[in-house]
Amino acid sequence: MRYKPAYTRYEKMKYNRCGRSGLMLPAVALGLWHNFGGVDKFEISRVMVCRAFDLGITHFDLANNYGLPAGSAEYNFGKILKLDLAKHRDEMIISTKAGYLMWPGPYGEWGSRKHLLASIDQSLKRLGLDYVDIFYSHRFDLNTPLDETMSALDTAVKQGKALYTGISNYGPDQTIEAAKILRQLGSSCRVHQPNYSMLDRWVEKDLLDILEKEGIGCICFSPLAQGLLTDKYLKGIPRNSRAAKPYGFLKREQVTEQVLKKIGALNTIAHKRGQTLAQMAIAWVLQDKRITTVLIGASRVEQVEQNISALNNLQFIAEELEQIEKILNND
Ligand SMILES: NC(=O)c1ccc[n+]([C@@H]2O[C@H](COP(=O)([O-])OP(=O)(O)OC[C@H]3O[C@@H](n4cnc5c(N)ncnc54)[C@H](OP(=O)(O)O)[C@@H]3O)[C@@H](O)[C@H]2O)c1
Repeated sequence: MRYKPAYTRYEKMKYNRCGRSGLMLPAVALGLWHNFGGVDKFEISRVMVCRAFDLGITHFDLANNYGLPAGSAEYNFGKILKLDLAKHRDEMIISTKAGYLMWPGPYGEWGSRKHLLASIDQSLKRLGLDYVDIFYSHRFDLNTPLDETMSALDTAVKQGKALYTGISNYGPDQTIEAAKILRQLGSSCRVHQPNYSMLDRWVEKDLLDILEKEGIGCICFSPLAQGLLTDKYLKGIPRNSRAAKPYGFLKREQVTEQVLKKIGALNTIAHKRGQTLAQMAIAWVLQDKRITTVLIGASRVEQVEQNISALNNLQFIAEELEQIEKILNND
C-alpha cells in the first residue's frame, strides 16, 4: 500500500483550543491502547491510523505500556509513521505517558524521576521520534513527592523530548497541586486526560471547573465506555468484541442486564436523533465546552469513520438531555 493523505483532510474536523494554550486539538482523537499491538493485525492498525488522518484527526495518543506486549503499540505506530506519515510529522500531535508497569524492578512504574525520564527515552526509541508533543504522568503516585514527578515532566520539556506536559487520572486536589508546582518551575500543565462518558461522570463534580479555572485542556478517554455505549452488546457479546477477548480490559461481567437496559433506552434516543448510539455518546461528551477532545478507540476502520461523523450533530435539545439524564439516573 502506498498512502497519500487526502487533500480534504482539514475540511470537516473541528479543532478546539487546549485550555489557555496555543495548541489546537481535534474534537475527536484516536487512542492506540487496544488494537494496535503485537497481537493485532498490523495492516488493520495501519489503515485505521491513515484513515483517521484523512478525516482530520491530527492527535494520536499512546503510552509506554500500550499494546500487547507492552510497548508494541508505540513500536507499530513508529512503523506507520515511517511508512506513511513521515512527511507529515509537523501536522501531528503525538502523546505518550509513563506511570503504569512497563519493566521489572522498582523503576519500571509509578512517578519517580528515574521512571519517567528512562521511560520517555524508551518511548522515543520505539516511536522513532526525536520528541513527542505531549508527555503525561499516567497516574498519581502517593509515595513519590509530586514535585519530583512534575519536575521530571518539566525536564523532559527542557531537554526537548516533549513540547507539552500532561497529567492523567489525577483527582481534583492533585490537579491543583500539580498545576501549581509546574507554574513554580516556569512551566505549565497543559492537559488533563481523565475518563469521561455517560456511564462514568466523576469529572463533573469538581474536576472540569478546576481545569477551566487553571486553563488546562481536557482530553476525555473511553467516551464509549470501551464499547458499551454502542449497539454492539444489545444482542449478546460478539465473538471479536473487546468484552470477548481474553486480554481486553472490558470484562464480560461488566455487560450486565442493568447496563444493557440503559443502553437499549439510549439507543432509541440516538436513532430518533438520526445517529448511532456511539455517535450520540461522543456528541454528549463534547457538548460541554470545557472538553477539548474525546479520545476514541477503534478495532476497525468503519468505527473510526462512524465515530468521527458524530460531529455532524453535536446539538441536543433540552428534552433529549432530560430523557438521557433520566435513563442514566435510573438504577
Ligand atoms: N489515560 C488513561 O489511563 C487511559 C485509559 C484508557 C484509555 N485511554 C486512552 O483512550 C483511548 C480510547 O479508549 P477506549 O478504547 O477505551 O475508548 P472507547 O472509544 O470508549 O472504546 C473503544 C472500543 O469501542 C468499540 N467501538 C468503537 N467504536 C465503535 C462503534 N462505532 N460501534 C461499535 N463498537 C465500537 C471498539 O471495541 P471492539 O474491540 O469491541 O470493536 C473500540 O476498540 C485509548 O486508546 C487510550 O489512548 C487512556
